[in-house]
Amino acid sequence: MKITYLGHACLGIEANGKHIIVDPFISGNELAKHIDLNSLKADYILLTHAHQDHILDVDKIVFKTSATIICNAEMSYYYGAKEFKTIGMNTGGNFELDGIKVKSTIAFHSSSFPDGTYGGNPNGYILECNGKRVYIAGDTSLTQEMKLIPETTGKPDLAVLPVGGHFTMGFEDACIAADFVGCDKVLGYHFDTFPPIKINHSEAKNYFSVRGKELILAEIGESLMI
Ligand code: NI
Ligand code: MN
Repeated sequence: MKITYLGHACLGIEANGKHIIVDPFISGNELAKHIDLNSLKADYILLTHAHQDHILDVDKIVFKTSATIICNAEMSYYYGAKEFKTIGMNTGGNFELDGIKVKSTIAFHSSSFPDGTYGGNPNGYILECNGKRVYIAGDTSLTQEMKLIPETTGKPDLAVLPVGGHFTMGFEDACIAADFVGCDKVLGYHFDTFPPIKINHSEAKNYFSVRGKELILAEIGESLMI
């Protein structure tokens, strides 16, 4: 699996020859000006919740690629009404497509569309393909429920966790979350985009390393393989 950090909470994932874009927010991100939205490939768009900073570029990507949206039930009704292709799931649900297993996990946050439409419950996801597993937490606080992940799906090879604080957990709680999910390798996201979530990179990375973990704060556009 190839995972590309596209800024804020947006990821590009390549698995089994398929392209998945998670929580597209590129055109509104000053830090992601060098990412060309129009050149992104997408078979699927995976959405954790309905907040603007996770869905801003959904319509543009769908018009360009005809990608299918994977999200919770309420968001699937919202996009279904626009005649977009959707696969609606709900918390704890799982299914497999194109050799990629998708499981919806618990996230503690809120979820409404920018126009006020109810966006259902927020979620994270676990994606599994060819024996590799990534946990994408979504916007969430630290929760005890994260301890269920290694028990139910097995330990992830990579945990993608919010580290910016203010709207989600910060890096200190994310370090505990890494323990809960049984994964010492963390890709941090949801940081630096806006003033309240700016973090000190060396302080955050050091916080992880003295606790025997690795925090990756990737450049926007940078990829890693698991
Ligand atoms: Ni949010
Ligand atoms: Mn957010």
